[in-house]
Amino acid sequence: MEIGFLGLGIMGKAISVNLLRHGFKVTVWNRTLSKCGELVELGASVEETPAAVVKKCQYTIAMLSDPSAALSVVFDKGGVLEQISSGKGYIDMSTVDADTASKISEAILAKGGQFLEAPVSGSKKPAEDGQLVILAAGNEALYKEVIPAFNVIGKKSFYLGQVGNGAKMKLVVNMIMGSMMNAFSEGLVLADRSGLEPQVLLDVLDLGGIANPMFKLKGPTMIGRSYPPAFPLKHQQKDMRLALALGDENAVSMPIAAAANEAFKKARSMGLGDLDFSAVHETLEALKPPH
Ligand SMILES: NC(=O)c1ccc[n+]([C@@H]2O[C@H](COP(=O)([O-])OP(=O)(O)OC[C@H]3O[C@@H](n4cnc5c(N)ncnc54)[C@H](OP(=O)(O)O)[C@@H]3O)[C@@H](O)[C@H]2O)c1
Repeated sequence: MEIGFLGLGIMGKAISVNLLRHGFKVTVWNRTLSKCGELVELGASVEETPAAVVKKCQYTIAMLSDPSAALSVVFDKGGVLEQISSGKGYIDMSTVDADTASKISEAILAKGGQFLEAPVSGSKKPAEDGQLVILAAGNEALYKEVIPAFNVIGKKSFYLGQVGNGAKMKLVVNMIMGSMMNAFSEGLVLADRSGLEPQVLLDVLDLGGIANPMFKLKGPTMIGRSYPPAFPLKHQQKDMRLALALGDENAVSMPIAAAANEAFKKARSMGLGDLDFSAVHETLEALKPPH
């Protein structure tokens, strides 16, 4: 199966490398074309525009930062729409809102193409290891056709029905995750400031009913105040913002998520947007008086 891949950020690069490792032919494009070099060394081909990738490949996957990037790659000059046609499928794995997914879907369908939204749960390491959870919605026939690729990319894929449901599911999941991260961060600081060992807090948490992989993975680096980006904080804040908008539309009060969003915004204002989302911890650590 020949797959086109648009967007070689943290996730796109990891997914493309994984597809190449499993014997897929992959043709890549990235806005900053120089980032394609590493993939070429691993056997990928490169094209200079999204349109050229779509022209070459029956299936094209995109993994882009946010709604404006996802729209730009489809609608702008040299974009996906210029070459999408009957018999070609476009699969957008970016985390966007349901409106963005619908706009892209309608435009692709109007050109005779097939569309699937397929945002993913899981971060850099699961992407490298093919252990993502895929939240697909849209054209079910296309979903079935690309299952061989999804089986390599993820450990499980869900088909959620009409376009928009994938985006909504993803936003609900990340809204919960962002709120949890803030509660966890407050707990680490509270333990420290009240004279407890944060590492012992991690050990206690890990043995109880709220043990989870995120606390286990991020806890030690947060204690060390190190935040190498796996999931950039600016994207987590985008997801909180989009989830809050979904709450607005549905009249769902979300005071916890709203507070978490403010913390992520604060972190962005401190220049931490490109660090891992666990860097929201610094909004509290930075307030600590020096020892
Ligand atoms: N990282 C995670 O743990 C994770 C997990 C699940 C879902 N996601 C979601 O997956 C998506 C990608 O995340 P990531 O972590 O891979 O982000 P990233 O490392 O910041 O990569 C973003 C990608 O989007 C491209 N891009 C940004 N603006 C663009 C534009 N206007 N036109 C064309 N391309 C543009 C970037 O190109 P350049 O290289 O030229 O900047 C890059 O390829 C986001 O929607 C994120 O929320 C991330």
